[in-house]
Amino acid sequence: MKLCLPLAATCRSLICVPRAQPFATAASSGVGLGLPRVAELIGSATPGSVVVMAGAGVSVSSGIPDFRSPGTGLYDNLQEYGLPYPEAIFDLDFYRRNPKPFQRLCKELWPGNFAPSPTHYFFKLLHDKGKLRRVFTQNIDSLETASGLPADLVVAAHGNFDGAHRVTDTGHPGAAVPLEEVRQAALHGGDAEWDALFEAHGGPVKPSIVFFGEQLPRRFFELARADFPKCELLLVLGTSLGVHPFAGLVGETRVGVPRLLINRDRVGEHLGLDFASGTDGWVGGDSDAAVRELASLLGWTAELEQLV
Ligand code: OAD
Repeated sequence: MKLCLPLAATCRSLICVPRAQPFATAASSGVGLGLPRVAELIGSATPGSVVVMAGAGVSVSSGIPDFRSPGTGLYDNLQEYGLPYPEAIFDLDFYRRNPKPFQRLCKELWPGNFAPSPTHYFFKLLHDKGKLRRVFTQNIDSLETASGLPADLVVAAHGNFDGAHRVTDTGHPGAAVPLEEVRQAALHGGDAEWDALFEAHGGPVKPSIVFFGEQLPRRFFELARADFPKCELLLVLGTSLGVHPFAGLVGETRVGVPRLLINRDRVGEHLGLDFASGTDGWVGGDSDAAVRELASLLGWTAELEQLV
């Protein structure tokens, strides 16, 4: 059954859904569609037909922890903020009541200190080779564009730090706030500076990253509707596929379109990924190792390493 991203989807806000536990994995485990076949598919793909879905795992080797990996993920390391539950740090209702935890964490999240990973550069190479249609990313670190990928080929589904706005009660972003004011408060200020912003703008402000309970950018829905019917190969990397509506995109390809999950954990079967079908595949282990192998199979190693 297809979701087809109906127009009503433009009103959907970010939600985290309970999902099946990931399988335990060994490095370089895998099942179904494998890298050699995927390399052939990339090689023969028509221009602009490969769609990428990315999550926090692709930035782990850049030095940014993911969210849900036990022990190392951000959500296992927020004890100092005294949150009722970890995701509260990115929850709109919670932020309205208690903005301090996010405001204190904001300094660490602000992009600028990290370089793209080999996986980001592989996305850039897919573009250089004319194969890439779009990268849909959940990441807020802007490392896709930092790799040199043109901004119009990237959909930041959960926003980023390129803008700031006042928080409203509706889940839609309120009036834009000068980014520099928020950046100064986050990087060089403290509670007093954030409180001054509240006073100046008549309510809480925040960078334009999407919180739980907030609407995703309209561009996400528009480009998902445009791109997935044209997709000939879907690459899904570094995501637990636990947050909707982003995760639901895996079900938006046409029937029979190959889908490859490159992820430490085997996930997504609850969303219809069928690793026994021969159409879908899972490659375990680190995404950097997998994309390097793909580059090697495609004869692109020198170009990838030059970018890295
Ligand atoms: P998660 O932390 O939920 O999942 C990251 C996935 O990447 C896990 O399955 C890891 O096993 C895997 N992983 C970690 N390192 C990897 C590596 N080097 N190579 C391959 N796989 C690796 O992150 P997301 O799925 O991106 O939302 O999380 C989705 C959303 O939940 C985020 O955008 C964020 C969060 O709440 C907001 O903050 C709004």
